[in-house]
Amino acid sequence: MTMKAMMRERYGSPAVIESREVDMPKPEDEEVLVRVRAASVNRFDWYSLTGTPWIARPMTGLRGPKSSLFGADFAGTIESVGAAVTDLQAGDEVYGCRDGAYAEFVQAKAGVALKPANLTFEEAACVPMAGLTALQGLRDHGKLETGQHVLVNGASGGVGTFAVQIAKALGAEVTAVCSTRNVELARSLGADHVIDYTREDFTRGEARFDVVLDIAGSRSWRELKRVLQPEARVIPIGGPKKNRLLGPLPHMAGTRLKAIRSSRTVMFFVAKITREDLNALRELIEDGKVKPVVEKRFALSELPEALRLMGEGHARGKLVISV
Ligand SMILES: NC(=O)c1ccc[n+]([C@@H]2O[C@H](COP(=O)([O-])OP(=O)(O)OC[C@H]3O[C@@H](n4cnc5c(N)ncnc54)[C@H](OP(=O)(O)O)[C@@H]3O)[C@@H](O)[C@H]2O)c1
Repeated sequence: MTMKAMMRERYGSPAVIESREVDMPKPEDEEVLVRVRAASVNRFDWYSLTGTPWIARPMTGLRGPKSSLFGADFAGTIESVGAAVTDLQAGDEVYGCRDGAYAEFVQAKAGVALKPANLTFEEAACVPMAGLTALQGLRDHGKLETGQHVLVNGASGGVGTFAVQIAKALGAEVTAVCSTRNVELARSLGADHVIDYTREDFTRGEARFDVVLDIAGSRSWRELKRVLQPEARVIPIGGPKKNRLLGPLPHMAGTRLKAIRSSRTVMFFVAKITREDLNALRELIEDGKVKPVVEKRFALSELPEALRLMGEGHARGKLVISV
């Protein structure tokens, strides 16, 4: 049996992506086979398309991608379950994250959970990677508590739009930093204060923050520390993208090193894709506290165009692919 998949045999621009008929995945006993109805685009997919930053290549493949299939976030319907799967069944509507999501079928294990009942497949596919990063960044690494003041720098993209809503759901006072065209969006997501970074420098303001989720990574430690409470926690999520060798790593590691002798904590992490946290996100979504923001929808064949837009670095919310 074959399926249609978007793939690339070598690293490059979106022009290297091809639509092909390939063998269907064969799930193991602990896995489920999902008929993908929608997938979403993450910065991560841009990295695995272009093979940048180079430092990630020992994992993704040195000279070319180890796997020609790619894509991560998906939502769809379970087609079949392996012999050892007892908690999911054929017909269940699910969402999750697993390599190879830009295809008609994907196999998945721990990174799959029942989809929020109040979302379409397209909306649900937007949630996993960005939503888990925002949740784990604020709750586990930021240790955000009710009443604390959090700054979300880069509030209008995939991770940021979830972070503003999750921070509000955790009871925080939220300041969102974004550009002019996204100010109204950030307000509509519940931000208490919105700073337009093209007009105002948040590191020169009066407010002091307990937690900073630094998605944009646009400010140096010297600038950032001016607006931190003495015990603040700073969670760098992303950073400048011009360094093709090391990506945002020098910025993130530099921030951590410079903060070592300070009373503040700087903690970076890679999001864990777990069913437990997909279930936590489902609860927040079904309670009406969090809703994905979709900027634009594309057909599977239009994936190169969606990735080109992602590569420009100014996505508003999420870009979604209907499969
Ligand atoms: N650690 C992890 O596990 C993990 C997981 C997911 C993502 N990430 C990283 O997180 C970063 C963001 O991911 P994403 O999915 O949210 O990206 P995205 O959807 O492309 O969003 C980027 C956003 O950044 C904003 N932005 C750009 N320059 C800015 C600046 N100087 N100040 C404030 N905002 C600015 C843009 O808004 P404007 O158009 O308004 O400028 C855009 O909305 C990436 O570097 C990604 O690699 C890390």
